[in-house]
Amino acid sequence: MPQIFDQKKRPLEDLRISLTDRCNFRCSYCMPAGREYQFMPPAHYMQVNEIQRLVSIFYNLGVHKVRLTGGEPLLRKEVSEIVQVIKSEGIEDIALTTNGDRLDKHAQPLKDAGLNRISVSLDAITPEIFYELSGGRGKLDQILKNIRILPKLGYANTKLNAVVKKGTNEQEIIPLIEFAISAGVSIRFIEFMDVGNQNGWDKNEVFTQAQVFDLIHAHYKLIEKVKKLPSQTSNNFLIKGTETTVGVIPSVTQPFCGACSRARLSTNGHMYSCLFCAKGLDLLTPLRNGASDEELKELITNRWSVRTNQYSIERESALESGGNRRPIIEMFQIGG
Ligand code: GTP
Ligand code: 5AD
Ligand code: SF4
Ligand code: SF4
Repeated sequence: MPQIFDQKKRPLEDLRISLTDRCNFRCSYCMPAGREYQFMPPAHYMQVNEIQRLVSIFYNLGVHKVRLTGGEPLLRKEVSEIVQVIKSEGIEDIALTTNGDRLDKHAQPLKDAGLNRISVSLDAITPEIFYELSGGRGKLDQILKNIRILPKLGYANTKLNAVVKKGTNEQEIIPLIEFAISAGVSIRFIEFMDVGNQNGWDKNEVFTQAQVFDLIHAHYKLIEKVKKLPSQTSNNFLIKGTETTVGVIPSVTQPFCGACSRARLSTNGHMYSCLFCAKGLDLLTPLRNGASDEELKELITNRWSVRTNQYSIERESALESGGNRRPIIEMFQIGG
């Protein structure tokens, strides 16, 4: 399979597709509650056949992994059909990131459509803290039930993702691990990031990788470091006596831009080469205007070949030098 490389010799391997910018939650670190958000009109969404066409082009450029994100991707009624068409293009590994609220309805049809893996965002297990972090939305009991079903449906490698904000939910780390062990799934803790323009990020609210591991070591014996591929985001360990791995995604204190092979497509078909981009490359308009596969391939190749993004490595200087950072894309428009 041919591959394309950016300016830092990073191949394009992994595509994340946002299926909608809407969400039924209002997580404080992503889409804080009580604000007005402008959502894209559905006429601007990539349609199923358009997603299929773009995926086939990315596949021919070396992408073999696709993750569906949002907003909340399960709000998109065609989600299973989308999985099916992506699978039919030859993509081996299709994953989905969800808040878990609607998995009871979707997990089985998604499995039948060929979905390989699911990651569920779950930041707390104490009802009051869950309520606070999800912006007063979401039925915690239902979500926990939905997670427990996944291994029974045959989903392997299910991961829970918990963003940890210092002073808000670090006391949830151990209870969340206990839940993960009991549900037979893995768990990763994510350092709170300055994504988007709305979450009021403060570096003093980052609960760091070192702090997470100090806490975990006091409670568990971790036996082996699970081998990490350079492009992987998390450092993982197996908890002795269980099948659960626990990990940290240290995007702030130990950035992993050096091997970042991820491109993202927003709901309206714009390609972003980093989570922290201000602007994407519109692929949907040329596609709708009749561009050939070759022309679309050239647009993507040209964009990727000039890519230099490494925001997480440059964060300190980006935040210090400019005072106010320029507006960037919102996380809910291009997913996690
Ligand atoms: P797989 O490799 O498909 O299993 O996924 P992953 O390990 O990359 O993790 P996932 O896509 O579930 O992402 C989990 C979280 O990691 C996201 O919600 C982000 O918070 C963070 N993350 C993922 N990719 C990036 C990235 O490219 N840059 C940064 N800064 N953070 C990322
Ligand atoms: N910091 C880190 N991760 C974030 N996500 C959203 N906002 C942030 C943030 N500020 C990620 C979470 C969530 C996924 C959908 O996006 O992992 O699970
Ligand atoms: Fe919705 Fe996910 Fe953002 Fe939470 S993090 S508001 S569940 S898109
Ligand atoms: Fe990739 Fe940008 Fe994240 Fe760095 S900050 S890992 S370049 S998406």
